[in-house]
Amino acid sequence: MNKIGVFTSGGDSPGMNAAVRAVVKSALHYNIEVIGIIDGFDGMIKGTFKKMNYDDVDNIIHLGGTILGSARSEAFRTKEGREKAFKNLSEHQIEGLIVIGGDGSFTGTKILNKEFDIPFIGLPGTIDNDLYGTEASIGYDTALNTIVKAVDQIRDTASSHHRIFFVEVMGRDAGFLALNSAIASGAESVLIPETITDIPALAEEIKTQNKGKRSSIIIVAEGDDAGGATEIVKKVKPHLEGYELRTTILGHTQRGGSPTYYDRALATRTGVEAVELLKDGKTNLMVGIAGDDIRLTSIAEAIEHDAKPDLAKEDLLKKLLTA
Ligand code: F6P
Repeated sequence: MNKIGVFTSGGDSPGMNAAVRAVVKSALHYNIEVIGIIDGFDGMIKGTFKKMNYDDVDNIIHLGGTILGSARSEAFRTKEGREKAFKNLSEHQIEGLIVIGGDGSFTGTKILNKEFDIPFIGLPGTIDNDLYGTEASIGYDTALNTIVKAVDQIRDTASSHHRIFFVEVMGRDAGFLALNSAIASGAESVLIPETITDIPALAEEIKTQNKGKRSSIIIVAEGDDAGGATEIVKKVKPHLEGYELRTTILGHTQRGGSPTYYDRALATRTGVEAVELLKDGKTNLMVGIAGDDIRLTSIAEAIEHDAKPDLAKEDLLKKLLTA
């Protein structure tokens, strides 16, 4: 393999730059030329390509966002869009691709591979951690740390004012961010899409846990079956007369910031592995992590299966509440 393309796609996540750096540097190490595709599938269609040198990826390991830009492309969903994309890749003699993104990005690249037989390797890059086949995706750890820090700050004001705070976190339709940030931030309750939210029961739980306490923190996954934090507060309010309820939506603050040690190391290790796999003629694989070991999963499996958070962790939270 003489020339590969690398792109970031879907929602950005902290550590994507560290992954781009690892891909570019390790490919150049093997004398493979690297083309950075700007703005994901949109850039592939428009032909916004940039030859990547060592200089382009120096001093970016600590930067959030993605220097390559990202987009959610509608045009790529059409056959015409993908034909244009492949024409551009061929004109630049790009022989293989490394895609850094989530489910949708892998699905799009898999279709391109099926239609035009271009090899590709996927790196899981999303704060949601909703990809089957890896214990962590690039950006997840940083987002968790961002949430925990924000909740620490909310706790200060919550306890000063005896308030119940509903803090909404991202995660799309998965509860990984909510569940694990709830444990680490000392939240009293967590609401996730994977379990049914019972509003009257939630109100009772808040009353019990709040006895003798100055405040409570409830982490709400944005995809919860009962709605986001704003909707849940509306529903639970009639059951909680006399309590002061507040809502905080952390939003896109969770997607930004300098990546943690964990995300930088994950991105670097999986990025180098992706280049080695392409070089060795492999395709349609996602490079993930299990414990401290690299774990490979077929892209088909990564897309087909739903990743599920460990629900025992919800029971763990309940064991910390007043009897
Ligand atoms: O997939 C990452 C994510 O941040 C989700 O948690 C969230 O639901 C979504 O992207 C937000 O997307 P956008 O930035 O396009 O509004």
